[in-house]
Amino acid sequence: MTLQEFFGQLELLVCQASQRFAAVGDAAALEAARIEFLGARSGRLKQLQKALGQLPAADRPQAGQRFHQARQQVEEALAAAQARLAEHRKAIRSTELFDPTIPGLRPRLGHLHPISQTIEQLKEIMGRLGFSLADGPEVEDEWHNFEALNIPPEHPARDPLDNFYLATASHLAGGDAGPPMLLRSQTSTVQIRVMERQKPPIRIIAVGRVYRPDTPDQTHSPMFHQIEGLMVDRHVTMADLKSVLRMLGESYFHGEVHIRFRPSFFPFTEPSVEIDMSWQGRWIEMGGAGMVDPNVLRAVGYDPEQVSGFAFGLGIERLCMRQHGIDDIREFFRNDVRFLEQF
Ligand code: PHE
Repeated sequence: MTLQEFFGQLELLVCQASQRFAAVGDAAALEAARIEFLGARSGRLKQLQKALGQLPAADRPQAGQRFHQARQQVEEALAAAQARLAEHRKAIRSTELFDPTIPGLRPRLGHLHPISQTIEQLKEIMGRLGFSLADGPEVEDEWHNFEALNIPPEHPARDPLDNFYLATASHLAGGDAGPPMLLRSQTSTVQIRVMERQKPPIRIIAVGRVYRPDTPDQTHSPMFHQIEGLMVDRHVTMADLKSVLRMLGESYFHGEVHIRFRPSFFPFTEPSVEIDMSWQGRWIEMGGAGMVDPNVLRAVGYDPEQVSGFAFGLGIERLCMRQHGIDDIREFFRNDVRFLEQF
C-alpha cells in the first residue's frame, strides 16, 4: 500500500464511521459500530494500524500523525453518539414518568383549632342575636378584674394564691411597685370596660383567654377560654337571659337544648345562677350568670333605677368538649396533630 492509498483509506474510514455513529438509534447498534471501527482486535482502525507498519519507514511518521488524527475523529463521533442516546433516554424516561391517569396528590390542608372553630361559631350565633364583639386586655388591673365587679379587697377570690399576679418591671427592680397587675381570671372584666365607654342599650359578647392557677387535670387547665355576654337596657329580665342562652345552645348544638338555672352567688350579679345545659339527655355545667348587680351599674355610672341587665360567662372548652365528646381538656393544648386533625 502506498502512502496515498493509506491516506485515502483513512479518509474513507473516518467518513463511514461518522455516518454510522450519527445514524445509530440504540445502544446495541452503537456498540456494534464501536466494535466495527474501534474494536481492539480486528476493528477497521486496528487493521489500518497494521497496514501502517508495512509502509516504508520514511513514510511512517507522516502516516502515524494522520492515523492519530483519524482515530481521534472516530472517537469523537462515538462520544457524540453516546451523548445523543443518553439525552434521548432521559427524554423518554421523563415522558414515561408522567402518567396522566394517576390521581393527583392532594396537598394536606390545615384547619382552625377546635377551640377557634367553637369561638367562630359562637361569635356568629351571638352576632345574629344582635350582640357585637367587645375586647379587653389579658393583663388587667384590680379595678376591672375585681373592684368594679363588686369584689372587695378581703374577698377570697382576690387571694394571690388563686390568681396570677404579675411582678412588674418596677417590682423586680425593687422600686415603686405601681398598681398590681394580674392575668385576668374571668372575661367579666370586659363588661366593665364596655360599660365605662358606652351608654345603654348594650349587647356585647367578649371572647378570650382567662387564667387561674389550677393544677391541670382532665377538667382543669390554668388557661382556658370564656365567652362573656352582657345585655343592659330598660326592662331586661332573667327570662331574656334564659332565652338567649337557649338560642345560643340550640344553634351551637344543632338540636333541642334545655337550660337549667341553679341558685348561686357572684359578687357582680344579683340574683346569680349556675347554668346547666342539657343536650341529648345529658346535663352539663356550662358557667355562671345573673342580673348585673346594682353596685356594678353604679360603679360605671349607670342608674340602676333606669336600666337593668344580665350577664353570663360560659366555658368555651366545655361547649367544645360536649359537642365532640372530648373527655380531657388537656388535649386542646398538647397540640398533637393526630388529635387536632379529627375536627
Ligand atoms: N365570671 C364568672 C366566672 O368566671 C361567670 C359569670 C359571668 C357569672 C357573668 C355571672 C355573670 O365564673
